Amino acid sequence: MMIRRYASQHELAQAAADLFVERLAQTEGRFSVVLSGGSTPKPVHRLMAANKDIDWDRIHVFWGDERTVPPQHPDSNYRMACETLLDEIEIPQENIHRIPTEYEPEQAAAAYDEILRDYFGNTQPRFDLVFLGMGDDGHTASLFPQTQALHEPVRWVVANHIPKLDRWRITLTAPVINMANTVVFLVSGASKADTLREVVNGPYQPDIYPAQFIDPESGQLIWMVDKAAAELL
Ligand code: 6PG
Repeated sequence: MMIRRYASQHELAQAAADLFVERLAQTEGRFSVVLSGGSTPKPVHRLMAANKDIDWDRIHVFWGDERTVPPQHPDSNYRMACETLLDEIEIPQENIHRIPTEYEPEQAAAAYDEILRDYFGNTQPRFDLVFLGMGDDGHTASLFPQTQALHEPVRWVVANHIPKLDRWRITLTAPVINMANTVVFLVSGASKADTLREVVNGPYQPDIYPAQFIDPESGQLIWMVDKAAAELL
């Protein structure tokens, strides 16, 4: 685990966008990136969109999770990615692998699983780069504390009911995220400081802090955190 501290959210975002370019340059052929929802990734996306040297033809975009709302709903992670990145770049439509939330939760999860199998084949899905956020409660993607999806041993994608939100979410499971070559947490703001200390330095209790499930099998785990979030580390 590597923790990189940045003086501000902007510096964090610039570093994350630079890491994307760096990892892309280290590969040839198709490059798979998993985007996160939430607010922290937005400035990262905008900086990626502003970099006109990026060859989007070989980049395939996926999501780590999605809310069970239509793609144009204000809460949609897909919509956020369109507004901050995808609508601003020249990327082939077939390279955008949206979680199809127009279906019922279980069907949406099954359909996204098929999308992953179409891309990776039936071998293990090894994403090149996964961006994750972390909630104040220690969730990541839509792996929320004390929820069913936390211990899914086999499936790559599940519909996960979140009691505290009284909502269904579609999410990659921890084993799939842990197969990635690089996993990057983007954590910003003082509200994350307590939880970040527990996740990084506290006892291993992933049912309470699901971000602790993220421990890549062979890939690299990088925490990119700003000063406010890292205050208690
Ligand atoms: C989502 C995200 C979620 C997010 C965290 C952190 O769908 O909301 O996938 O896991 O990354 O809640 O969100 P912020 O970046 O807004 O703090």
